[in-house]
Amino acid sequence: MPDDVVGLFSEPLPQEPTAIENVYNLLTENMMPYPMGNIHPRFWMWYMGSSNYTGALGDFLAAILGSNLGGGNHAASCIDQQVVDWCKEMMGFPKSASGTLVSGGSMANIIGLTVARNQMAGIDVREEGVAVIKQPLRYYGSDQIHSCHQIGVETLGLGNKALCKVPSNPDCTMNISALEQAITNDRAAGLKPACVIATSGTVNTGAIDDLHAIEAICRRENMWFHVDGCIGALIAIAPENKHRVAGIERADSIALDPHKWLHAPFEVGCALVRDHDAHYGAFTLTPEYLEMTERGIASAHWLHDYGVQTSRGFRALKVWMALKEHGIQKFGRLIDQNFNQARYLDELVQKEPMLELAHETNINIVCYRFNPKGKSESELKEVNTEIMLRMQETGVAAISDTTVRGSHCLRVAINNHRTTLADLDFLVKETVRLGAEICQPNS
Ligand SMILES: Cc1ncc(COP(=O)(O)O)c(C=O)c1O
Repeated sequence: MPDDVVGLFSEPLPQEPTAIENVYNLLTENMMPYPMGNIHPRFWMWYMGSSNYTGALGDFLAAILGSNLGGGNHAASCIDQQVVDWCKEMMGFPKSASGTLVSGGSMANIIGLTVARNQMAGIDVREEGVAVIKQPLRYYGSDQIHSCHQIGVETLGLGNKALCKVPSNPDCTMNISALEQAITNDRAAGLKPACVIATSGTVNTGAIDDLHAIEAICRRENMWFHVDGCIGALIAIAPENKHRVAGIERADSIALDPHKWLHAPFEVGCALVRDHDAHYGAFTLTPEYLEMTERGIASAHWLHDYGVQTSRGFRALKVWMALKEHGIQKFGRLIDQNFNQARYLDELVQKEPMLELAHETNINIVCYRFNPKGKSESELKEVNTEIMLRMQETGVAAISDTTVRGSHCLRVAINNHRTTLADLDFLVKETVRLGAEICQPNS
């Protein structure tokens, strides 16, 4: 962004009115040309959905209504509940389960971890607080677990030490024997193993933990089985790949992210909890000014009883409209398409002598690097970072980087319904071109 554009956004609070057409012009000139870019076919950074037109209309209509989804007897509440029911159906959860739409995956995970804490604490945590939990609780996730879980246990007052990072296998899935050993050791040390967080699609490489084995351990050890499915839960709707997440339907709680593989405009995540009463019991509170009435607007149950927000936006509508328009089968096929595209890119990389895969491609995330041979690890990191930055700055493509098992690589997460195979051909060609350019003696 040019400096004068950046400067515009630090102007002080407007005191006087500006005609709306001028306000709009300011945005078309200064905001619209500088988006993050995740609706572009060659945006593959981090892990984002690529939005959709109908979802955008949904957000617009929701804003026109100005609905507050804290609850109440109105149509928007019914739509919110229907979207939660559809999420349960996609996951194979029973209708009796509960759920709530939240800002995104991080919040959805925190909902699951909170219910787990309250169920496993052995005391009334809401009344007594975490300080009086007799045996310190332990949560377990692989060393590939998303950072939101650390924020989660910290926010829950359990402390980062409550999250045990279990070593992963070479394929980046959780090592099950190491998990069992950690649970045994912790019990012997007087701690209380409370919850295993299985990841269905890790953020670095898309690894899917062994859900069946983890569920068996949770049942045997009387622990809560949570699945972080922010990336991979929705694979359950993809006809060719759904077998990869079999077992997710047996979780106690799941976090999933419609703003990723359902391409809803940001933000919308979903927390599902098998035991409705456990979920409701963790958050319900009815102050005198929110008592239900027999009839009228306050005659339906409050949706704020399932999370920490009181007022809630109508984020369901954008999901509802896109699902109605396209049907779930199309979204499933688009997920399979992203898998096929990742395999295609994987093969292109393998055919190109100057490139190498940095990790086995599991789902739709390809980790690779430019390696002209003869360079140290730190030189390779420098070259590949420069490739990534030049691509971003010149608009070739938006890819990110990461470090897997100490080795730096470029990372392409194809969670994009606009990507074509030609975009991937171009990415490979440009990686090689930029790599060669950067490695030239005087570049
Ligand atoms: C595995 C995993 N968990 C949790 C999250 C956090 O989700 P959100 O960014 O929607 O809060 C992400 C984000 O990419 C993720 O990949």
